[in-house]
Amino acid sequence: MHTSFMPKIACIGAGNVGATVAQYCLELELGNVVLTDIVDGLPQGKALDMTEAGPIRNYSTCCIGTNDYKDIAGADIVVITAGLPRKPGMTRLDLLEKNGNIIAGICKEIKQHAPGAIVIMVTNPLDVMVGLAHATLGFPDNRVLGMAGCLDSARMRAFVAMELNVSMKNVDTMVLGSHGDAMVPLPQYTTVSGIPITELLPKERIDAIIARTRDGGGEIVRLLKTGSAYYAPAAGAARMVQAIVRNERQVLPCAALLKGAYGLHDIFMGVPCILGTNGVEEILTLDLSKEELEALHHSAQEVREGMDGLKQLGLL
Ligand code: APR
Repeated sequence: MHTSFMPKIACIGAGNVGATVAQYCLELELGNVVLTDIVDGLPQGKALDMTEAGPIRNYSTCCIGTNDYKDIAGADIVVITAGLPRKPGMTRLDLLEKNGNIIAGICKEIKQHAPGAIVIMVTNPLDVMVGLAHATLGFPDNRVLGMAGCLDSARMRAFVAMELNVSMKNVDTMVLGSHGDAMVPLPQYTTVSGIPITELLPKERIDAIIARTRDGGGEIVRLLKTGSAYYAPAAGAARMVQAIVRNERQVLPCAALLKGAYGLHDIFMGVPCILGTNGVEEILTLDLSKEELEALHHSAQEVREGMDGLKQLGLL
């Protein structure tokens, strides 16, 4: 097997999202993957299954499954998808406590075993969990980021393409802010082969697309009845891994630490980032309308409340 010079990608959490991130990374030959979970046999079984798919799917990247964090030693990238989804009857604070404890524990292991890694958070509540990871890891700001904007933008791209009956590849968009109801989709930065959608669709159709994008996760949950989306979330994370390991300098919306951009300080939120070898190479500042800027600040307020929740729980 050709293992030399391959980046090492650790996926923490071998559930639906984590295993699918692993699958996409293997199929794109982005690197060798270490799939990690607390459940004995789960990452090992999925890793072996994906290895056995390799000859047919035509990849030579390797996948191992483990319950031991020693195996992530020297990872170049760590994607964190471990945690629980919010269940009926669970408050936001309950979820914060459960996932906060899981993420804090995992970050201590990453700090010990993969101190040079770039860490991509996927676990929800995303913007708060990435803030917790940054505080626990103590890594440089550029090496800790969160996946949400890639997913929200992909959903909006799909909805625009469906509405106009054009190729999804022609549609570009930007969804900023926190991941959830307070996300900030930007119609004037949404284009079809360079044509702003504001020239192609009436306002009410654009508003309907924005509303569907905001509800994107909920729509899937209602259809599945048990469980939540994982193909598109995993695709978003793999896209970020690709931009980093191939030093593509792609402009992608990611949760990054803001230190004054958009008038926001010391908070993780979705903003356009240039991704390359160093993780977040640069944060781009877009020209936003007064309403959009207000929406971004409202989004930031929700993230701050989550961070305050972590402080109450003694996790920060
Ligand atoms: N260390 C490693 N793995 C853990 C830990 C831990 N401390 N705690 C839980 N896990 C694992 C579980 O055993 C499970 O296999 O995390 C996995 C989560 O998988 P799923 O329940 O299938 O959840 P999934 O749909 O993959 O979503 C994971 O990603 O998109 C977000 O909102 C989603 O926060 C959720 C996360």
